Amino acid sequence: MRAVVFRAPFDVRVEDVADPELEAPGDVIVEVELSAICGSDLHPYRGREVGIEAGTVMGHEFVGSVVEIGREVRSWRVGDRVVAPFSTNCGECSSCRIGLTARCVRGQLFGWIENGRGLHGGQAAFVRVPLADATLGKVPEDTPVEAALFAGDILATGLFAADLAGVVPGSTAAVLGCGPVGLMAVSASLHRGAQRVFAVDPVAERRRLADELGARALGIEEAREELVGSGLDCVLEMVGSPEATRLAVDLVRPGGTIAAAGVHTEARFAFSPGEAYDKNLTYRAGRCSVRAYLEEALELAGGAADDLTRIVTDREVLDNAREAYRRFDRREDGCVKVLLVP
Ligand SMILES: NC(=O)c1ccc[n+]([C@@H]2O[C@H](COP(=O)([O-])OP(=O)(O)OC[C@H]3O[C@@H](n4cnc5c(N)ncnc54)[C@H](O)[C@@H]3O)[C@@H](O)[C@H]2O)c1
Ligand SMILES: [Zn+2]
Ligand SMILES: [Zn+2]
Repeated sequence: MRAVVFRAPFDVRVEDVADPELEAPGDVIVEVELSAICGSDLHPYRGREVGIEAGTVMGHEFVGSVVEIGREVRSWRVGDRVVAPFSTNCGECSSCRIGLTARCVRGQLFGWIENGRGLHGGQAAFVRVPLADATLGKVPEDTPVEAALFAGDILATGLFAADLAGVVPGSTAAVLGCGPVGLMAVSASLHRGAQRVFAVDPVAERRRLADELGARALGIEEAREELVGSGLDCVLEMVGSPEATRLAVDLVRPGGTIAAAGVHTEARFAFSPGEAYDKNLTYRAGRCSVRAYLEEALELAGGAADDLTRIVTDREVLDNAREAYRRFDRREDGCVKVLLVP
């Protein structure tokens, strides 16, 4: 089959690789209908997250149909249309039982193989899904495929970040970073009832999309000028850099909450324990438990598909993925969200 394969930083290629096969009785094989490139794919692409092996099939956002079923799979039949969260989960361990499926003891990320262990990803014609009963979600018949794709990662993560930041009816919130995940966090915060949502990004096209989704978008310096001291209850940090953390701490009001959903790789916080104390700060972080949000995200995405999918700037056949990664990485030509069609 054709697949997007990681070779080295800044070097992904579309190659012919072996079709995936069932390996465990709980596996299914999914034929991919649509996949996408995520900001998280840029971390290994840019060499910022290391350890991924050359030869790994990339990608963790995909929607498709079940084509093969392991003998212990109970929930799925050939032909079912499914969406996967970006990681697998067993549904039974102590993390899964409390809804923290992102930290399942048996969970694995799609598109990450390290030291010979892990899972190939969904930027391919087919993908193997372990723990399929607990992991996959059913795509309702009337849900557009793009909306289902968003539910499996970026929209679920937006809802998660809004909850983590404590967005409730009447809150004022700022979303830092207007990439696909930040843009979904804008919609999710409004959906949770935020009274006012500001959105911050240095890139003008991305700010325009945030405006269209209902935020008031600002550049970084503008945000510092207008929002420091303005009493922001919640800051959703959807970037994953020390600079963004710093901005979040400066913007949030005393007693407010920062939700850090951007992926961080640095060893230290960009603020001190003393600052946290002086601001009565709550700082919450981590990976989204997509499985726990999947049904809500599917419903929300299904009802708002036209609005949400306006962030899709590029729709490419899988064979053009190498070039699409390059454009997405450089944010060229207003590139915001890239879909890949196998
Ligand atoms: N927690 C989770 O479960 C989860 C899930 C999905 C993605 N993520 C992470 O969320 C982050 C965003 O993902 P994405 O796909 O939108 O990525 P992206 O790279 O497309 O978007 C990041 C945006 O942040 C902006 N930015 C950079 N520095 C900034 C600053 N100091 N202040 C404000 N904006 C700034 C960039 O211009 C860009 O538009 C990534 O780190 C990704 O890995 C986390
Ligand atoms: Zn992702
Ligand atoms: Zn589990």
